[in-house]
This record gives sequence, structure tokens and C-alpha cells, in this order.
Amino acid sequence: MGVGHFCSGMTWTSFAVIFCLCGLISLSSAARLSASRQKLDVQQHLKRFNKPAVKSIKSPDGDIIDCVHISHQPAFDHPFLKDHKIQMRPTYHPEGLFDENKVSEKPKERSNSITQMWHLNGRCPEDTIPVRRTKKDDVLRASSVKRYGRKKHRTIPKPRSADPDLVNESGHQHAIAYVEGDKYYGAKATINVWEPKIQQPNEFSLSQLWILGGSFGQDLNSIEAGWQVSPDLYGDNNTRLFTYWTSDAYQATGCYNLLCSGFIQINSQIAMGASISPVSGYRNSQYDISILVWKDPKEGHWWMQFGNDYVLGYWPAFLFSYLADSASMIEWGGEVVNSESDGQHTSTQMGSGRFPEEGFGKASYFRNIQVVDDSNNLKAPKGIGTFTEKSNCYDVQTGSNGDWGHYFYYGGPGRNPNCP
Ligand SMILES: *[C@@H]1O[C@H](CO)[C@@H](O)[C@H](O)[C@H]1NC(C)=O
Ligand SMILES: *[C@@H]1O[C@H](CO)[C@@H](O)[C@H](O)[C@H]1NC(C)=O
Repeated sequence: MGVGHFCSGMTWTSFAVIFCLCGLISLSSAARLSASRQKLDVQQHLKRFNKPAVKSIKSPDGDIIDCVHISHQPAFDHPFLKDHKIQMRPTYHPEGLFDENKVSEKPKERSNSITQMWHLNGRCPEDTIPVRRTKKDDVLRASSVKRYGRKKHRTIPKPRSADPDLVNESGHQHAIAYVEGDKYYGAKATINVWEPKIQQPNEFSLSQLWILGGSFGQDLNSIEAGWQVSPDLYGDNNTRLFTYWTSDAYQATGCYNLLCSGFIQINSQIAMGASISPVSGYRNSQYDISILVWKDPKEGHWWMQFGNDYVLGYWPAFLFSYLADSASMIEWGGEVVNSESDGQHTSTQMGSGRFPEEGFGKASYFRNIQVVDDSNNLKAPKGIGTFTEKSNCYDVQTGSNGDWGHYFYYGGPGRNPNCP
């Protein structure tokens, strides 16, 4: 609308008033325009994330799980995957040739078994994969539509240098164990599952393993898997199974779960990003999950297994540069975002929110941590180091024994008298 035209013939004072009004009106129509553009943008993204479902299951936690035909999954949007022949099983497993029956006949975990919440209301049929549906609000919570499903830059713990700029710039804090200086072809861990409290919705708390390749520069390759609580990403405080990958230090490639094309899922029972339950309680029942990521020596893809029973799928080797060959470092542990929103250290918890000294049933643990060597065997990691930016906020303590192999306790409460 023409301000001049509308306002002509007014006295000076009323002109000023009308001018202000007109300003408001044109501002709000600009806002409407940009809102409708954003809406279109969001709809287009939702269409890209949410593939047509054969069946949909409503989970008690509010999620909708879409059973998507395996050949329609997001991975196949990738130009390099247009003609990819999906591999329904790995050729090798770290204990030898892959044998499906052997995988599922292994004794069940000693600890109580963990399931995904949506299983209470149904299962996906064969030849489909369960995909957590992205809702409009999920996208709107992200800082921009483009950033949805992606990590901010520079969040890898960098033990050797412990670069203070890195620590300050990113606001991410870690308590980890790691090995480096060899060629690694995978890693395994059994991870205690908790539901840490998150102070601010834009913070998160996670416990995971990292498979890293390259230097800590712009070309860092990373494959990550574990559990996380991330209100911004999921809209709640539930503990969720997640994966992440990047081949350029979180810049243009990679994402959480299936939120971009990359990971190829073959499993119909486990949904990436879905809630896992139950979680451990302080001085109460303890639950843990096992995660194994290994590189198939035949095809070169990086496979992921959840528990003893579920081979979830793989990251094709071509996604990566360094990891197309091998990993140069493995890390296990926790990470939180410390946004210092009120000028103090965040009270977002890592692990159980308790320090390692408290031990079993109180502090969170990783047990039976292992690496895959160049002969495709699971081995105890040699020369384990530990790293934390501020041990008064979150700490880590390693140990080893017959039952748990190499293990560590990690985590903490964040803000406390020694971590102001
Ligand atoms: C990190 O930032 C804090 C506050 O912003 C400052 O007090 C501290 O000196 C910085 N640390 C380093 C090592 O630069
Ligand atoms: C998540 O937890 C925080 C406190 O830690 C609470 O303020 C918030 O309301 C919770 N969010 C949801 C969606 O339950």
C-alpha cells in the first residue's frame, strides 16, 4: 500500500500518527509475507524428511513412527546413492563372517533389556524401516530451517591440545576416555542409560562414542552414536537413541539420525531418535545399551549394531574421506552444552548428574569399551587417556576388571560450589 497516497490531505500531526500506523501495517504485511514464505519452506522440508508411510504408529511419548519402505528412505535422496544396491547384511562382523543366526542366538544382556517406547503400540512390517516423523514444531524450534537436525560447529573434544579458545568458543563440555595413534576399524561400548536434567531447552546432554578420522581441522570425519536428551531437537526431555555423522567438521555434511541422506537403515525394529526406556534410577535399577560400530573389510561401509540383536544399517564409505580408510581416534563419554544463560555455569547434568567417585548405581558408566583392530577383531583399547575441560563440573575416572573389561564412570551436576 502507498503510504503517501493513503496519508495525503492529513494535517501534520495526524499525518505523523497515520504514518506510524502505515509503518506498522506495512511492517506486519512484510512479516506476514516472510511468515508465509517460512511456512512454505517448512512444508517443503517436512516433505523431504517425511517419506510416504506404509503404516504409522503413535508412540505413548507423542512421537509418530512412520514405517517407510526400505527403498524410499531418506538416504536415497543422495545423488551418489541413486543407483546404490542396498546391502541387507554386512559381509563381516568383528567376530568373523557375519552370521545372522549367531547374532540373535547370543545370550541376552545380563542387565534388564531396553526397548523403544513406540513398540508398546505396534511394529513395522518387514521391508520397511521405522522413521520418527518430523513435525512442524520440530523444525520451528531449530535456529533456522537449514540448521534443523545438524550440530553447531566445533563440538568435538580435542584432548591433546585442550585448546582454551575451543573450550570457550563452543561452550560444549566433555568428560571422555579416548585412544589415538593407531588405525581403528570400529568401537564398542555398553553405555549406562539415564535421563539427565537440562537447564535450558537449547542445551543438550549426551553419552556416545565417536569414531574420528583426520585432523581436528575443517575436514574432520566423525561417526557418532549413543543416547541424548535434547529438548530443541525433539521437543521433550526423553532419553533417545541417536547417531550423527559428518565429513567436514559439522559444516555442510551430515546430521542426526536420518535427518539427511547418508545412513542406510536396514532394520525394521529400531527407530533412530526414538525414546528408549526404562532409564536408570539413583540407587535403583540400572539399564544399559550396547553399541558397536565397525567397518566391513569387504565393502568398506561402517555398520552399526544396537544391543546383541539389531544390525541397524550402515554409512556408505563414500560419504567420508579419512574414514573411507580407517579411524585415527576413538572417544567414549559425555558432552553437554553450557550456554551460561544466566552468567553462571549451566546446571545441565551429564550422565546421571553425579560425579564418578559415587560409583555403580549412582554415577553413569561405560563398560567393556573395545576397539576393532586391523584384523577385524575386538580388542581392549591400549593407552586410554581421559579428558575433561572442567573436572569440577564434569569428571571421568577409568578402571578395569574381569567382568567389565575397561570401563569408566563419568559425568557430574554442572553448576555447584566448585563450578560456579
Ligand atoms: C573463557 O571465558 C571466560 C569467561 O568468558 C574467561 O573468564 C576465561 O578466562 C576464558 N578462558 C580462557 C582459557 O581463555
Ligand atoms: C524439560 O525439563 C525442564 C527442566 O529440566 C522443564 O523446565 C521443561 O518444562 C521440560 N520440558 C518438557 C517438554 O517437558
